[in-house]
Amino acid sequence: MRIDKFICAMTDYSRSDIKRLAKEGAIRIGEHIVNDTSTKIDPSASPIYLFDNPIGSIKPRFFMLNKPQGIISATNDGHHKTVIDLLNEPKKSKLQIAGRLDKDTTGLVLITDDGQWNHCVTSPNHHSLKHYKVTVDKPLDDSLIQQFKSGLLLNGETKKTREAKLTIIDAHHAELFISEGKYHQVKRMFAACGNHVTALHRHAIGSIQLDPNLELGNYRPLTQHEVNSFND
Ligand code: URA
Repeated sequence: MRIDKFICAMTDYSRSDIKRLAKEGAIRIGEHIVNDTSTKIDPSASPIYLFDNPIGSIKPRFFMLNKPQGIISATNDGHHKTVIDLLNEPKKSKLQIAGRLDKDTTGLVLITDDGQWNHCVTSPNHHSLKHYKVTVDKPLDDSLIQQFKSGLLLNGETKKTREAKLTIIDAHHAELFISEGKYHQVKRMFAACGNHVTALHRHAIGSIQLDPNLELGNYRPLTQHEVNSFND
C-alpha cells in the first residue's frame, strides 16, 4: 500500500496535507524520514510515525474537557462550535461524547472513541452518578431535599425521576447527584418544583471529577485509573 493512502485511512489528514507533512519531514518509516508519499509500505513490517507518534496501533482514546458556555455538545454542527472542535486530535470523526451538556451548561464532558466504554458511562442501567452544581433564581428550601429524594414527575413524563441527592449550599446554590440523563433533566427537575436554573455546571461523572487545572475550553487525556473506573 502507498504510505499516503495508509495515513489518509488512519488519520483525518488529506492526501495534500500528507504531501506537505512529508516535505516537512514529519513522516517516518522506522528511523527513516519519508519525503516521497508514493512510497510503498507494509505497516505490519515496520512502524509508521507521524510527528513521532506511531500510527496504526489503534488504541482507544479517552478525554475530559471543561466545556465553556456557548459550545454545543455534538460531534458536528453546521452553525455553532462543538466540543469536538475544541480538540486538537487526529481522526476526530471517530470521537463520541459520553453524556451531553446543554449549550449554556459548563463543566465536565467525557469524550471517547470506545463505544463500549461510552455505553458504560451513559447507560442508565449502570447508575453512574452525575454531580452538578446548580444556581437557581428563587430561594431554595429544605423541603426540596425530600422531593428530590422521592422522585419528581417531569413535564411530559409518566414515571418519576429516580432518587436524587440534593444538598442546599445557600438560598440560590445547590449540589445535585442524579443517576439518569434525561433530556434537560436538571432544569426540568427544578422546573417541576416551580424554580428556574440560571447556571449549571457538571463537576463529576461517577468517580471522574473535572480536573481543577483545566481552564474552560481545555481538555486532557483520562488517566488509566479514570478509564478503569468505568470498566470495573
Ligand atoms: N441537565 C440539564 O438540564 N442540562 C444539562 O446540560 C445537563 C443536565
